[in-house]
Amino acid sequence: MKRIFSGMQPTHQLHLGNYLGALKNWVDLQNKTANFEHIYCVVDMHAITVPQDTTLLAKATREIAAAYIAAGIDPKKAIIFPQSAVGDLHAELMWYLATMTQIGKLNRMTQFKDKAGKNAEKAGLGLYAYPVLMAADILLYNATHVPVGEDQKQHVELTRDVASTFNHRFDREFFNIPEPVIMGDATRVMSLRDGTQKMSKSAESDMSRINLTDDADTIADKIKRAKTDPNPLPETVEGLEGRPEAANLITIYAALSGQTKAQVVAEFAGKQFSEFKPKLSELTVTKIAPMTATMRDLMKDTAEIDRILASGADRARAIATPILGEVKDLIGFWKKP
Ligand code: AMP
Ligand code: TRP
Repeated sequence: MKRIFSGMQPTHQLHLGNYLGALKNWVDLQNKTANFEHIYCVVDMHAITVPQDTTLLAKATREIAAAYIAAGIDPKKAIIFPQSAVGDLHAELMWYLATMTQIGKLNRMTQFKDKAGKNAEKAGLGLYAYPVLMAADILLYNATHVPVGEDQKQHVELTRDVASTFNHRFDREFFNIPEPVIMGDATRVMSLRDGTQKMSKSAESDMSRINLTDDADTIADKIKRAKTDPNPLPETVEGLEGRPEAANLITIYAALSGQTKAQVVAEFAGKQFSEFKPKLSELTVTKIAPMTATMRDLMKDTAEIDRILASGADRARAIATPILGEVKDLIGFWKKP
């Protein structure tokens, strides 16, 4: 059985990078691989590796679920659930995997280095162990495929490593070695203010990202003010080299329109950004606005979202329970006779 697992944190607003790098691919996969099982988690236990507002966490969790559904994840085809609703099992497997994870490998995780910054001594154990919890998320369902953006590849590779260590230690091909699925051109959408920085939820300037909840005017304004260079758009894809902002905007256009970068470059060859940007705004609004509207509708009736999350959690637990049971048997724990 092929099983897809992925997740997003309920922190801040989802942005175009989350959509193009991950969510859109999940929807494409769901529609292309009907014979797979699809599990999409809202990883609220990862979110609390940095302090979250107690009064907003549950709402943010519903919002992420609403975004999944609005983007096209079908709760009838896919399991959508909050990680903490199966948190006992995720945390338990995390512990077992932690006993098999080398500190040297965690020290190489670039996300930890970025997030902890210069103050690594003061960073919490949770932030450090974050990739082990992510490995537990994936392996608890014995997933085979993990669709993520480029920045999460290293974490999936660590998961593969830990899965191999486990299999080796217990001399069984127990865990699948999950494949990172990094699809499309927009695997790393960059900031609108600086084409060398990733578009991120935590960047200070809201002008650096397009949020899935931005209205048409805000989107147009952000794109209008997006950083560019003084040259017209190039004639070839190679001409984008050394022009990170132009490359980013072309990539976004290609991903949203379902064209290749070459096709987009051909369409706008030699044109000024002043001509390209309004087209990009129009396209972005066309793609995002219906999603935003659906999200808003879904958030009006939280009972429906709560029902989807509750049923997702039950289904997730039903898959995870026997897998964790087998893990405990392999480790050799005492069991009630
Ligand atoms: P996060 O926002 O860290 O919860 O990430 C959720 C998903 O979005 C992960 O699969 C990330 O790899 C993906 N993602 C986040 N930022 C970007 C970006 N700027 N470009 C492409 N994918 C991204
Ligand atoms: N670490 C991922 C991110 O920040 C989110 C995540 C947690 C995840 N557990 C996962 C992604 C399991 C894929 C599979 O984007």
